[in-house]
Amino acid sequence: MDATATVTPFSTLIRIASHEQHTEAETSTFMSDLLGGRLGVDAYTRYTEQLWFVYRALEEGAQTLRDDPVAGPFIQPELMRSAELERDLLHLRGPGWREGLEPLPATAAYAARVAECARTWPAGYVAHHYTRYLGDLSGGQIIRDKAEKTWGFERKGDGVRFYVFEEIANPAAFKRGYRELLDAVNADDLEKQRIVEECKRAFALNTAVFRELGEVFPLSA
Ligand code: HEM
Repeated sequence: MDATATVTPFSTLIRIASHEQHTEAETSTFMSDLLGGRLGVDAYTRYTEQLWFVYRALEEGAQTLRDDPVAGPFIQPELMRSAELERDLLHLRGPGWREGLEPLPATAAYAARVAECARTWPAGYVAHHYTRYLGDLSGGQIIRDKAEKTWGFERKGDGVRFYVFEEIANPAAFKRGYRELLDAVNADDLEKQRIVEECKRAFALNTAVFRELGEVFPLSA
């Protein structure tokens, strides 16, 4: 048995294991250009559209996992983002926001993997849940601030509601509670290792979406 796996809290293990992928996602060309204020609101809109497909998979999956012994404890209504994304898309694309909305190939692949985990492997779903929601509660706030300043959205208003967790008054405390859930996850060391691997895959799926968005919105030199 790997001694490190038994003594290091799982929340620490998963954070450290995905650190490199986090840096890669954070510093991707598309994210850097977006947060550097070098892209138009059309790029931000296209990015928000991709998120909608991903969260739809995450949150449709959540419905069936509520009573699951592994994934169940993570399913918390205050995290749900689909309604917020739909309000943002209504603002960004107008009343016909759903018409002609198609995921990029990388987004379709990402959403399909989330749905597959939700259906067949609840512990794998936990990896996807962690990668998105804990990230949104962390770096998501930096993205919101930049988006408000760059494209003039009302503070915490339409366009950036995805980043606003109305029912989470204290994100730091919520994240502490979430890490306790991770530490108590109902899985043995081998399964925890598989969750970590799925988390790395989740980051890679995000990076692939950024890559395709970067191809759609290249910066003119
Ligand atoms: C430019 C984009 C990003 C910025 C500026 C950013 C920034 C941050 C920061 C500052 C934290 C640490 C917060 C803390 O210690 O409480 C964090 C944590 C995190 N981020 Fe990001 N991030 C970005 C993109 C992403 C992406 C694309 C993902 C994955 C989809 C992601 C997933 C996470 C996760 C899972 C955590 C929690 C780590 C843990 O404490 O276990 N982030 N991010």
